[in-house]
Amino acid sequence: MDATERIDRPETSLFQEIETCAGRWATEAGERLSAKTRGSLHIEYKNNVKSNPVTEADREAEEFLFMAVSSRFPDHSVIGEEGRDPGPDRTPIIWVIDPLDGTTNYLNGLNLWCVSIGVLWYGVPIAGAIYAPLGPDGGPSLFTARKGGGARRDGRPISVDTDLCLRPSRLSTLPAVYADQIERRRELRGGLREVRTLGSIALELALTSCGALQFSAFWIPRIWDVAAGVSLILEGSGAVARRDERDTPWLPLLAFEAPAGRGLRKWHGSIVAANQRLSQEIAQGIQAGRDPLAPAHTA
Ligand code: IPD
Ligand code: CA
Ligand code: CA
Repeated sequence: MDATERIDRPETSLFQEIETCAGRWATEAGERLSAKTRGSLHIEYKNNVKSNPVTEADREAEEFLFMAVSSRFPDHSVIGEEGRDPGPDRTPIIWVIDPLDGTTNYLNGLNLWCVSIGVLWYGVPIAGAIYAPLGPDGGPSLFTARKGGGARRDGRPISVDTDLCLRPSRLSTLPAVYADQIERRRELRGGLREVRTLGSIALELALTSCGALQFSAFWIPRIWDVAAGVSLILEGSGAVARRDERDTPWLPLLAFEAPAGRGLRKWHGSIVAANQRLSQEIAQGIQAGRDPLAPAHTA
């Protein structure tokens, strides 16, 4: 039995309950983060990489979310960026949490960050919640979705941009490694003007799910960066193209699969999120340029 067959098993009321809880807890964690005095936070650097900071704020938010999930859903497990991992004993339903996506922005007083919670059933996204203190209306926004139930921003239905052409007047986000390649592709280059990198992958996916961004592309994000956003995109009538390794084709991302012999925590890949047609078109454009994964393999 594959994941697509198993997805029909849980009651849709469970998805609804999970979406509601994820939204409530993401909001509470986000409000706690907003209330912190950031200047006094002790900053550490993961693997001694100075561009990868972590603070007690990240860890406290993850602990809060872990406690909330495990008290309400003791038969679910949690993968958290800051260390929570069910290991081989993981359950069918896994909550994938980035307690603070955009830590560098957060520490610098730039309000482009979010709390991201994605929920998977045998790897299939069944719900997502992203709380952003600075949403499209200038105040906080809560993005949520559940499988088969659509996506919402602050309770109102949202969808990705349905335009089948790239528009120079629209915004998109693209890591530099892709921007360089697309620069050489005339047909895509003509459609792109203002390309942004906001410093929070999950926020960029949330903004794509409501059409504020026409598309977003990411070069080797981690599962906690994208689990919630993929749910929002898919339920917002969009599509996500994923490529695993160099020379592998871009395929629709419908479920997160653990790499052979490793846990879901080690999921990896490059992704492009947009409407169905644009996600494929942009992925093919990247494919035609220099291999986006090549630097990782040749470093
Ligand atoms: C980071 C952000 C950023 C991306 C980095 C991520 P973090 O997440 O999503 O946009 O460029 O690769 O690590 O560390 O702030 O949770
Ligand atoms: Ca992150
Ligand atoms: Ca983080």
